[in-house]
Amino acid sequence: MEKLQIKKLKEDSYKLLLANRREKDGFQYTLPSPTSYPYQWFWDSCFHAIVLSHFSCEDAKNELRSLVSKQFGNGLIPHMIYWRTVKGVIDEIPWGKDGTSSITQPPMLAYAVWQIFEKDKDIAFVKEIYSNLYHFYRYLLNERDPHKHNIVGIINPDESGEDNSPRFDGPMGLPPQHTLKENFAKRVELIKKNKTCDFDAPFCMKEFFWVKDVPFNSILVKNLKILSQIADKLDLKEDALYFLEKSIKITEVMRDKMLEDDIFWSVYKEDHKKIRVKTWAIFSPMFAEVCTKDEANILVKNYLENPDEFGGKLTTPTVARSDPSYDPKGFWRGPIWIATNWFIYKGLLNYGFLDEAKKIKESSIELIEKSGFREQFNSDTGEGMGAENFTWGTLIVDMFENVE
Ligand code: GLC
Repeated sequence: MEKLQIKKLKEDSYKLLLANRREKDGFQYTLPSPTSYPYQWFWDSCFHAIVLSHFSCEDAKNELRSLVSKQFGNGLIPHMIYWRTVKGVIDEIPWGKDGTSSITQPPMLAYAVWQIFEKDKDIAFVKEIYSNLYHFYRYLLNERDPHKHNIVGIINPDESGEDNSPRFDGPMGLPPQHTLKENFAKRVELIKKNKTCDFDAPFCMKEFFWVKDVPFNSILVKNLKILSQIADKLDLKEDALYFLEKSIKITEVMRDKMLEDDIFWSVYKEDHKKIRVKTWAIFSPMFAEVCTKDEANILVKNYLENPDEFGGKLTTPTVARSDPSYDPKGFWRGPIWIATNWFIYKGLLNYGFLDEAKKIKESSIELIEKSGFREQFNSDTGEGMGAENFTWGTLIVDMFENVE
């Protein structure tokens, strides 16, 4: 790839992150999109920190400092922090808490911390943030797994970060085709129900929606492995062992409960009923090395590269073209998002699929160059859709280093 092209994409990415930066109460954070998403979001901030670590580790640390500043007493880190409310933008969701939401998002925090540490070796920052990490991951391992099944549940589709994904249609009682409005109404209903039990995860919320999602658990496994490394660096041997053991146990249970016909399926309810809807989630176990090389091979050959499934010139759609819910323009129901591409890209590298990883990177670049920093891209035409000046495209910077 042209050196100049990389240089320009890097510059544009940094410019966008700076333009979306805000400050409040001594903290700094980055908006995913000033017009559509004018707040701080959990996994977005982890993505921002990952990208910022390529430009300024101090800014990356500050992004995470603001994120953990609103951690709840029980360890949960909310998926949204309002800082300033903007009338008319997502303020219609009654999260039931002041200034923040009451749910979380895929646990990418340890990954972001470690990436910063690998760049600047600043152990003081790791020490500073360790207790936030410890309490957040302990919250997930305990409160989200009350029966000690060694797999964690999410309580609302929004906790997956893929708000309208068809993976959640079944658990919410929706057909594969329905309107955004119908979907939103179901999610708001869930929040209302959870409010009635004051957001008590172990004993109440699991009654309404209790999906053990493949990407959430894969991301947890990867982050627990990293957290174990972090604890080890800080000479906290017991913690290091505990988090490592948990990552191994979750991997085992994922293999036992989710894997069928070469695919890891999200499961729900106490009896782990499989949700057989093909979304990009089937590739997420590769991010955490939860699948074997043979299984990864099947995923790549039969699904990632198969034009009737996820393949084709523009890649990777968030839902398989063969699935009845597939809609190239539907929110999380087909279009390409750069963050999901990033997860798949990293997963492919874990198994040595260099050419396939390169293809994902090049397709991501093509989409950004054609349509700009948009939220999603039509999976048939590449047309940009949704939020503008959306930061996830900047993850491209984190794909430059590995594959030329
Ligand atoms: C949308 C996405 C979610 C993201 C948020 C802010 O709701 O579905 O994953 O965190 O926007 O970018």
